[in-house]
Amino acid sequence: MSGPLVLAIESSCDETGIALVEGGRRIRANVVASQVAMHAATGGIVPEVAARAHLRWVLPVLDEAWNDGGIEWSDLDGIAVTYGPGLAGSLLVGINVAKTLAWVHDKPLVGVNHLEGHVYAAWLLDADEEERPEPVFPLVALVVSGGHTFLVEMTDHLTYRLLGQTLDDAAGEAFDKVGRLLGLGYPGGPAIMHAAARATRRDATFPRAWLGDSWDFSFSGLKTAARRIVEEARRDASLTDVSEPLPDAVVAELASGFQDSVVDVLVTKTIRAAEATGACSIVIGGGVAANAVLRDRLAAEAEARGLPLIVPRPGLCTDNGAMIGAAGARRLAAGERSGMDLDARPSLPLARRR
Ligand code: KG4
Ligand code: ZN
Repeated sequence: MSGPLVLAIESSCDETGIALVEGGRRIRANVVASQVAMHAATGGIVPEVAARAHLRWVLPVLDEAWNDGGIEWSDLDGIAVTYGPGLAGSLLVGINVAKTLAWVHDKPLVGVNHLEGHVYAAWLLDADEEERPEPVFPLVALVVSGGHTFLVEMTDHLTYRLLGQTLDDAAGEAFDKVGRLLGLGYPGGPAIMHAAARATRRDATFPRAWLGDSWDFSFSGLKTAARRIVEEARRDASLTDVSEPLPDAVVAELASGFQDSVVDVLVTKTIRAAEATGACSIVIGGGVAANAVLRDRLAAEAEARGLPLIVPRPGLCTDNGAMIGAAGARRLAAGERSGMDLDARPSLPLARRR
């Protein structure tokens, strides 16, 4: 495959990701330095700590990606960088490196919306992966991350109509909060998935916020219910000391019940939205899309309706540079350029309702 070769930088949250992507699709290099272990110690992300870690890792990650790609600066057609949404201090590290490289090597620069990156992960192909069809428009995309949960319709590249979004917590945020309630540490998403896989009883039922026929989401009621259910379980197990953990079997059962509730709502609304808008395919991205139960349920429901579903491999669902390269290549191809005044936009939206 040929096409413009883009260097892409992602530093919006707690992953420093740098990639080389060809033709908006083929990954030539993709290096991610995760701060997850560091933030686990504080039970969540401390923004200043995250920004300093990006500063520490951005050049080593760039070196490694550059070596993996085995290219010359003259081969490069442009530089893409996440400029929002995300943590300002973290974003600024990536933006500053991208600007410096663009200026020194006289390359076009383009700012990319992080959420658009999560959608465009569906176009990526690993270095050794066989060609497969691209997502077909019109499509419905579900983005489920630590900070965002929404459904958009895309009628063409870079064209979004917001169908629904969370009215309160993001799905990943709910996973993280309930993971903490269950004593599973940070980040809660993968920990809940692994605990749920060990469940032998699946009797715990958690509420589902359907919000009528709307495609919006709400997870705050679920979080409150989870707190109550965990407290009840602690009383049932006669645990009075807060330092005493719930029995592993109970944690597994509750993790499974919670996960089923989130997955049920996400899958049902995505399928409904796809059917109602006459979508030709469904794509899904964001950290929560790494969840095996969500992936399996959505795959089964989509297949039952003959709807092609594109789910990036788990490592491309969580934050990475390659997804920014996929989206950035489209923006560069459309003639878009960012100036040296490109600044961080911590609350940058992706789409509006039309
Ligand atoms: O997209 P992402 O890497 O960063 C943001 O842009 O927020 O998403 C991180 C979120 C976290 O809330 C994390 O708990 C969740 O994705 N997550 C998962 C899984 N892996 C990561 N949630 C459920 N199941 C997983 N396997
Ligand atoms: Zn993300």
